[in-house]
Amino acid sequence: VINAIAQNGFYVSDEFLSLEHFQQLHELLQSWQAEGQFKAAKIGLNATKTQAIQIRGDEIAWLDAGENHPAIKAYFTAINAVKDRLNQAFFLSLTDYEAHFAIYPPQSFYKKHVDQFKTANHRQISCVYYLNPQWQASFGGELNLYTAEDELLSTILPLANRFVCFKSNLPHEVLTSHYPRYSIAGWLKTRSHAVL
Ligand code: OGA
Ligand code: MN
Repeated sequence: VINAIAQNGFYVSDEFLSLEHFQQLHELLQSWQAEGQFKAAKIGLNATKTQAIQIRGDEIAWLDAGENHPAIKAYFTAINAVKDRLNQAFFLSLTDYEAHFAIYPPQSFYKKHVDQFKTANHRQISCVYYLNPQWQASFGGELNLYTAEDELLSTILPLANRFVCFKSNLPHEVLTSHYPRYSIAGWLKTRSHAVL
């Protein structure tokens, strides 16, 4: 993870969690969906729903790090290990983490964007973990990652148990997905400071 981030700005792991925990997270996402826990993602404080859907069509449900579910615990433990490595190697002070389940319904996408907000740079490393048991290339839904100079860096399929992390200032997009696309999106952050 250290070499990949230092050299390319991103890292991909194809066996992030055990298959048991992968399966449990996939099932948990589906049961939360059945319970109606997912809400349309927003884009900015003042944007309307119609404006938002032209930029991103995913539906999200936030995860609680304190959740007493074995697979959620395993997920946060694995993220913490990544965080500790990055802190040691790059003298970062990543302290906080926030994450949500995401569902991209058929024909939805997320236009090219960066994950750092214009007013605050607390999000340093973006993390995505894919929960799609039988993904096929024909489904679309690729993650395209770009360099800070906007050159295509990599095209990544949302395959089962695949984890991707990248510097949050890099532009990226989710191409139109033709099949329901499941993931956990999260961000390692430096501690928030009050804006004076
Ligand atoms: C995001 C995002 C990428 C993906 O949620 O901000 O860019 O592959 N997700 O789902
Ligand atoms: Mn993003």
